Amino acid sequence: MSALSQDQIADLVSAAKTAADRAYAPYSSFQVGAAILLTTGESVTGCNVENASYRLTTCAEQTAIVRAVAQLGPQIKIAAIAIANIDPTVACMPCGACRQTILEFAADPCHIFYPGENGKASNATLDQLLPASFHFKK
Ligand code: THU
Repeated sequence: MSALSQDQIADLVSAAKTAADRAYAPYSSFQVGAAILLTTGESVTGCNVENASYRLTTCAEQTAIVRAVAQLGPQIKIAAIAIANIDPTVACMPCGACRQTILEFAADPCHIFYPGENGKASNATLDQLLPASFHFKK
């Protein structure tokens, strides 16, 4: 896939914001949305889904990735992912577990767009956010 256009990035961020509106976050009230863009040009969204047993919560990024594999198959490669919080003034970087989950299906490079400090639109590659990552080798 060639370099991302500004329109593609704007569409991805917008899809993540829409997904955040659908989050189920009655415990934290921290509604997160994610939208992944695959190397095929397809995109899939997800939101966080919390549980009364807190540790069973699924993050937005993980929801999007699980949906993408279920709908499109295990060969998916993530060219980019946008993350949004329902409150546009709040930072929302992907948590460590989500970084590792993204890595499992990441294209090289894999671009991540997220609200940084005070919600400022920020971006980095997965390599930058997850250096020295774990890879399984037998
Ligand atoms: N959350 C995400 O959806 N993605 C992340 O990368 C960080 C945290 C969710 C989980 C939980 O429902 C809420 O944010 C507060 O931690």
